[in-house]
Amino acid sequence: SKRKFSGDHTTDKGESFDRKIFPVAHSSRYHGSSPVYKQPIEINSYSIDSDRRVWFDNRELKYYYRATGTDLSAGYDKFIQRDESQLEHLDTLLDALTDARSKHTDPKLTTSQFVTWRGIMTKLLCTPYSRNEPWELRVSRHKDTIFIEEQATADKKEKERQASVRQQLMCYWGYKFETLSTVSKPPKDGVDDQELADRILDGADTNVQYCVAVKTTLGKNSLIMGAEVDCSEGAKCEKNPLSRYVELKTSRLVQNPNQERNFERYKLLKFWAQSFLVGVPKVTVGFRDDDGQIVKVEDFATLNIPRLVRGKSGSWDPSVCLNFANQVLDWIADNVVANDPTLTYSIKWNQPWRELTMEYTGHDHVFLTKRFLDGETS
Ligand code: A3P
Ligand code: MG
Ligand code: MG
Repeated sequence: SKRKFSGDHTTDKGESFDRKIFPVAHSSRYHGSSPVYKQPIEINSYSIDSDRRVWFDNRELKYYYRATGTDLSAGYDKFIQRDESQLEHLDTLLDALTDARSKHTDPKLTTSQFVTWRGIMTKLLCTPYSRNEPWELRVSRHKDTIFIEEQATADKKEKERQASVRQQLMCYWGYKFETLSTVSKPPKDGVDDQELADRILDGADTNVQYCVAVKTTLGKNSLIMGAEVDCSEGAKCEKNPLSRYVELKTSRLVQNPNQERNFERYKLLKFWAQSFLVGVPKVTVGFRDDDGQIVKVEDFATLNIPRLVRGKSGSWDPSVCLNFANQVLDWIADNVVANDPTLTYSIKWNQPWRELTMEYTGHDHVFLTKRFLDGETS
């Protein structure tokens, strides 16, 4: 299967690029001490409004206020979903990076070996335990920083197209729980009764987001990630904002051993990985029944989640996730060497779930913005 590329398909150094393979072993192969994961630091934050306009302020930050009302289906007719056919690549994260570089005096805080979305890192962390969820990444290297974006797989697009009415409703439940659990101002000085009444009937608008950019290090790989934050517990703490953020989740109420296993094996793994990566200390879970009624709300301290599953049969281990992701980042850094933002590589994880593959994709799917590249030289 060795393919040599020529002409357009050479790196900027004129070398040919062979397809690269990263064998994915059984999860037990990644046991052992974990690479150090540094406490993430917030380097910027921004709001995206209902028209997808970006504002470098806190206008869309929501504040936690325990859910009132239990019906997650209420307001479904007012559900506004972001048009995902408008690919946004890393655009807002790149803008946030340019903005951060203009605000911070220490260039170390705003430079890293990798720049990507948190959701991509979550997928990497969970891969040793997920042998049926394909993903595809697109990678470019520029000034020794490797940028990683996600490329929607054909499989994912097909699933979305076929999403049943029931699946769409269940997707709404997740967002409705956010509507039900947050208010627009810190609740310390009292909450507006009208706002509390309204949120029970309100819908949700997935265009609206509050995002942060964080800097951290996994092993020897420094990393800047963009992530959506669901809400803050009380006013934003300017000194250490991450310490007050809360991730909101919904999950099926656990009533039998099968549901318990599903919750611990799959849900808690994803909850932990997603929040751990950006230093969000708390995950608040709304447990719902099959009719979309919240039955109870429970808080999980992110750092405690691994302890809840430790030693159970068929369970997951955070050090496996971190070792695996660290090795993948090393592999990407070793193989994506050409510093040229107009060249891309594609990395795929798919059937038969035995290896990651990396292919050189030349000038196809270039995703770093001119705006970002221009900002770097000025
Ligand atoms: P739940 O996770 O509570 O079901 P997030 O929790 O990351 O803030 O995302 C909010 C909601 O978006 C999710 O709520 C879910 O409804 C939807 N969502 C997020 N990622 C998804 C995915 N990969 N597939 C389907 N729905 C997703
Ligand atoms: Mg969210
Ligand atoms: Mg959430």
